[in-house]
Amino acid sequence: MELPRRWFFRLLLLIVAAGSGILFALYSSALGLPTLPGIRTTPRCQHPLYLAIGRNHRFRGLFDLSIPVLLWGGLFTPELWDNLSQHKVPYGWWGLPREAIVSTLSLLNSSESAKLFATSRKPAPSCVRCAVVGNGGILNGSGQGPKIDAHDYVFRLNGAVIKGFERDVGTKTSFYGFTVNTMKNSLISYKHLGFTSVPQGQDLRYIFIPSSIREYLMLRSAILGTPVPEGPDKGDRPPIYFGPEASASKFKLLHPDFISYLTERFLKSKLINMPFGDVYMPSTGALMLLTALHTCDQVSAYGFITSNFRKYSDHYFEREKKPLIFYANHDLLLEAALWRDLHEAGILWLYQR
Ligand SMILES: *[C@@H]1O[C@H](CO)[C@@H](O)[C@H](O)[C@H]1NC(C)=O
Ligand SMILES: *[C@@H]1O[C@H](CO)[C@@H](O)[C@H](O)[C@H]1NC(C)=O
Ligand SMILES: *[C@@H]1O[C@H](CO)[C@@H](O)[C@H](O)[C@H]1NC(C)=O
Repeated sequence: MELPRRWFFRLLLLIVAAGSGILFALYSSALGLPTLPGIRTTPRCQHPLYLAIGRNHRFRGLFDLSIPVLLWGGLFTPELWDNLSQHKVPYGWWGLPREAIVSTLSLLNSSESAKLFATSRKPAPSCVRCAVVGNGGILNGSGQGPKIDAHDYVFRLNGAVIKGFERDVGTKTSFYGFTVNTMKNSLISYKHLGFTSVPQGQDLRYIFIPSSIREYLMLRSAILGTPVPEGPDKGDRPPIYFGPEASASKFKLLHPDFISYLTERFLKSKLINMPFGDVYMPSTGALMLLTALHTCDQVSAYGFITSNFRKYSDHYFEREKKPLIFYANHDLLLEAALWRDLHEAGILWLYQR
């Protein structure tokens, strides 16, 4: 009787195990887990970042992985208008014309505009690995290019010079993040260092960071294929920046509420209380890295500020070493401490040397 009994229990165990798998699947779908960005029921990542967040007391209380990262037409409501029109950009729409906002969002009104990653991609990776490439001097001579390109998605921003630095920064660009101001400044300031055009390509998507009315106007004109009708960028032809192919799916817009949430929880700087406090906002690099942390399963950060930043030039593409510039509207030391802490918590991997 001994043998069959053991077999019986093994069979029972198997049934229970299979049943609990089914139950778990039902439970997760009831909770809506699969729709949460960055959370999958069958993670095949070695180190999915949400597990590391769950293990860390401080970051567990800060991260809300269900918050909408992108703004699109489907989220526009009279309540949203009322709320956001009480806050200044980049956290709101105070003083911005409603018509310009609504007409832009009406062009971003398919579910694709709600998502960073195209769902048509086959096969969908079971673990979305992202590299976010800042422009820090630490990348000069780093040889990290092939590792960066090996990620599923590569985020770049502002003056992301690639030509001549392929060995150090790679060549792949899935997302380019910017404000119209930082994009145009980069084209002017770093032209002589090789930043002669914004990265372009068929699979490349642009992430607009709303920091004034300029993003809404540029974004609308880019989709409509018309010159910018008014404002500081009046007459600009968007294809000069973004290339000839301009469907709505090519352009993404960060949600102002997402920028508020990031600032409030992760990068609340004492600079806010200083004389120019109302111009404070996280750097473009910080916004892109935090965007990746809220949409990818695994994130590597390259070219971001480290504690030994004085060893390196401001940017990797400079010809001579220049000290890092601390702008009054950013708090790079606070950002440095955040990347260090996220790295130590195993939530992201920060390239250091
Ligand atoms: C507007 O703000 C109020 C209070 O801050 C909040 O309760 C409400 O959910 C917000 N509505 C929207 C649509 O964001
Ligand atoms: C988006 O589309 C829906 C359904 O067609 C429509 O009701 C809504 O007004 C649109 N939103 C915007 C901002 O145009
Ligand atoms: C970049 O690295 C090279 C070789 O390691 C070095 O000679 C050069 O000075 C560095 N450039 C900057 C701007 O630091």
